[in-house]
Amino acid sequence: MNDFAEEVSRGGRFEFGRNWRAFLATVDEERIAEAGLSLRKMLGVGDLEGRSFLDVGSGSGLFSLAARRLGARVHSFDYDPQSVACARELKSKYLPGDQSWTVEQGSALDEKYLESLGEYDITYSWGVLHHTGDMWKALGNVCRTVKKDGKLFIAIYNDKGMRSRLWRRIKQAYCSGTAGRLAVCGIFLPYFFLRTCLACLAAGRNVFADYGRERGMSVFHDWSDWLGGYPYEYANAEEIVNFIEQRGYTLTRIKTTEYLGNNQFVFTRKVGK
Ligand SMILES: C[S@@+](CC[C@H](N)C(=O)[O-])C[C@H]1O[C@@H](n2cnc3c(N)ncnc32)[C@H](O)[C@@H]1O
Repeated sequence: MNDFAEEVSRGGRFEFGRNWRAFLATVDEERIAEAGLSLRKMLGVGDLEGRSFLDVGSGSGLFSLAARRLGARVHSFDYDPQSVACARELKSKYLPGDQSWTVEQGSALDEKYLESLGEYDITYSWGVLHHTGDMWKALGNVCRTVKKDGKLFIAIYNDKGMRSRLWRRIKQAYCSGTAGRLAVCGIFLPYFFLRTCLACLAAGRNVFADYGRERGMSVFHDWSDWLGGYPYEYANAEEIVNFIEQRGYTLTRIKTTEYLGNNQFVFTRKVGK
């Protein structure tokens, strides 16, 4: 049994790749365009022509595909073998035989592996480093993958104190086995569904459909990802900014949340460092 399978079997890790596999069927041109738009907006660019792009924890591969479509040379990796298979599947469907997009299995915690990749114009790691099991080590590692004057685009779960601690317990219960998963889904999926139906009524429009407009994601897959996403760590925005700035970066753009979701950051690596 490899490390990944062993972690899953002892209840220490959610199988994101399984969820991404189900999500793949929903990927279409509209979602790819939304994913591309989210990259362009946060990076403040029109395209990524001539840039190198490292996708750390590439999940479905949607953002690697979007970056490639924007003109970047892309390297994607993920720890979960099924996520890796998903990115490869997207590649063979949308860009078969493309020489400028590589996909492989690797871990953000593996310093030797990251070192072997060299430095990129853009390192992108959205919603990943808090799921590695050692967020601060993973953050330190990705800081070393960016060229001078290059960009580091990360998203990390916000720290909401007791609520974050409680959610860690819930996610742990989900991953503990079939009974835990059924209990967590049995309680929270109907609750999320009802809450979204009420939001539709209040807004007078289909909020379920609106969801796809956020980074090209899908509401049902995001719910599963949220309920099961373990290991789970979090930090407040200030802690992240301090940590990354101490490693030779300046903050370029930030988008914070008041809730339990992700704070998003784009940092620029200082030229002199
Ligand atoms: C919530 S998903 C985000 C995927 C993608 N970045 C996105 O924005 O859609 C988290 C991903 O991080 C991956 N992951 C978890 N631990 C990792 C590690 N140590 N190294 C690389 N990827 C990891 C998971 O397998 C999963 O595909």
